[in-house]
Amino acid sequence: MVSESKPKIILDCDPGVDDAIAIITACRWANIVGITSVSGNVSIEHTTSNALKMKKLLNIAAPLHSGASRPIASEPFHASHVHGQTGLGDTNLPEPDDLADSDDAVGFILEKTREEEGIHLVPIGPLTNIALAIKADPSLVNRVASITLMGGGAGVGNVTPAAEFNIFADPEAADLVFRSGAQLNMVGLNLTHQVLMGSMHADYCYELNTPVAKAAGDLLNFNGRTHGTEKGSHLGAMHDPCAVLAVTHPDLFTSKPRSVVVELEGAHTRGQTLVDERDWVDTEKNCNVYYGVDSEKAIGLILQAVSEFDPNG
Ligand code: BDR
Ligand code: CA
Repeated sequence: MVSESKPKIILDCDPGVDDAIAIITACRWANIVGITSVSGNVSIEHTTSNALKMKKLLNIAAPLHSGASRPIASEPFHASHVHGQTGLGDTNLPEPDDLADSDDAVGFILEKTREEEGIHLVPIGPLTNIALAIKADPSLVNRVASITLMGGGAGVGNVTPAAEFNIFADPEAADLVFRSGAQLNMVGLNLTHQVLMGSMHADYCYELNTPVAKAAGDLLNFNGRTHGTEKGSHLGAMHDPCAVLAVTHPDLFTSKPRSVVVELEGAHTRGQTLVDERDWVDTEKNCNVYYGVDSEKAIGLILQAVSEFDPNG
């Protein structure tokens, strides 16, 4: 049998209900070489503990390093109203047995990418860890295959009309990453709002009747209730899994090279990713902006990750 070659990723996350689904997705479709946690949806204590819970549930061997406990310059901004008080909705997962391997996510990112070529950084929370790593060693951007992030977008925001949560929560970090010269892929709200999941997908998971599927069902139901793009729809955008799938299944997506800057000032627009869509103007393109996705296939792959979960890896 030919073994599948899966892209190597470091998943930098702030679980978070959709982060948890992204971890399940990555477990099936990527080669996770490390997980790093960052303050975001909830505090670093909770995001780290939630990532450890997912690591235990999924029997993930890769190390987990906790990272930044606050943004570079702004005050911490959380989203427990969307992800639940401790960040994993109303799931009831067993407490982790292990602690994080270290509290030096930045050191881990730098070291691991020196050891191994071709790793994709996949940040699905605020960009604090990634920015600090680039600041410590700017050549990081030349030795990773890509930085494929969930954040920002071309158009609509969610925290404000202009800004998406991951960018709004640490705009200075995002600014540094967008100006870093990395092979940057932005999977933003304009894309993730096309991949909607809710109670019918949760019901499919419950029928599978495994611990992973039960957790996925609870996460999908919770996300549907709190992350709906239309009032009362009970369908929630699957933001973070989209960034994972952009690395593992690039053929499902369309993107365009664009010039993108992060708004740091602005009475109404701090944290906006301003995408220059004027095709007739010559600008330096620093980012691939994701626009299109085969939503049905993306949802199928997320559910397949749940149904095909193999406890033996
Ligand atoms: C992003 O913000 C967080 O609340 C989600 O986990 C996702 O990463 C969506 O704006
Ligand atoms: Ca997230």
